[in-house]
Amino acid sequence: MIKICGKIKKKLANIINEYDAIIVRNKTQLNKKILNKNKKLKFIGRLGVGLDNIDIKHCKKQKIYVQPATGMNSDSVAEYVISSSLHLIKNISLFHNGTTKGLWPRTILNSRELNGKIIGLLGFGTIGKKVCKLAKNFGAKVISFDPYVSKSIQKKFNIKLISFKKLIKISDIISIHLPLNKNTKNLIKLNTYSLMKKKPIIINSSRGYILNENDLIKAYKKNLISGFAIDVFKKEPVEKNFYNKIDKSINCIVTPHIAGVTEESNVRVSDFIVNKLIKFFK
Ligand SMILES: NC(=O)c1ccc[n+]([C@@H]2O[C@H](COP(=O)([O-])OP(=O)(O)OC[C@H]3O[C@@H](n4cnc5c(N)ncnc54)[C@H](O)[C@@H]3O)[C@@H](O)[C@H]2O)c1
Repeated sequence: MIKICGKIKKKLANIINEYDAIIVRNKTQLNKKILNKNKKLKFIGRLGVGLDNIDIKHCKKQKIYVQPATGMNSDSVAEYVISSSLHLIKNISLFHNGTTKGLWPRTILNSRELNGKIIGLLGFGTIGKKVCKLAKNFGAKVISFDPYVSKSIQKKFNIKLISFKKLIKISDIISIHLPLNKNTKNLIKLNTYSLMKKKPIIINSSRGYILNENDLIKAYKKNLISGFAIDVFKKEPVEKNFYNKIDKSINCIVTPHIAGVTEESNVRVSDFIVNKLIKFFK
């Protein structure tokens, strides 16, 4: 029997005990309390890759197999990062807004190339690697901070791995591709922006809480960064307190957690999880 729940919070707690498997997106919180309501649950499929909405430790204890859709939406996210980089480094929104107001801002603003710029990737996992490949096609230099990357991967991707401090100091674009955990939570704080020497563009398509989105606006207003793209937030949907501060004078892109969600990735992600589920119970 398959059940599709829309508004899940209350419903899920009431019905979870009936099922051997559950498939979730990123909003459904499968915490200890809810998991304890089902002693027969064997499989959790996650239509995405971040597992911060699932109590993994508890799943291990309960012998519940957790299957993320690893790599299935990484092309979509990598394209989001490159398109945002191009858009922001060229000040496209600001040119657009000025032009459509009749200002013809041809000489007031600068446009730049991605070619030759340093892209610093925080995290060199599935998505970081995809971004690296695309960025190199545009002639960008790619560096990364990721202490868990092996020498062979480093060699394969011809990537320079450096410290966090050095990366934020020398990058023209900083893109975050980290999981949310106790080491990465609040990794970028308000005072971190003053260590960025190139007024970089910041892109966060990973998880909210790794940086504080309100600090991004403060850093932009202090002229410490030259733009930002943000797809993930502490609280989703994003709070008024944040979006009320966004106006057309800011070189930014703000999106509702859609970097990995495209028509193509939706099909790949769903196919992948359903096939894994079928195999698991065969
Ligand atoms: N916005 C979206 O729609 C969307 C879609 C897919 C994934 N994501 C998010 O993107 C992020 C990256 O996904 P991925 O598939 O590349 O993950 P991944 O697990 O493949 O890669 C993460 C990398 O981060 C590194 N890392 C872990 N802790 C670190 C630390 N403390 N310091 C430095 N490096 C560290 C790991 O070694 C790994 O290489 C995740 O947070 C995921 O949830 C968002």
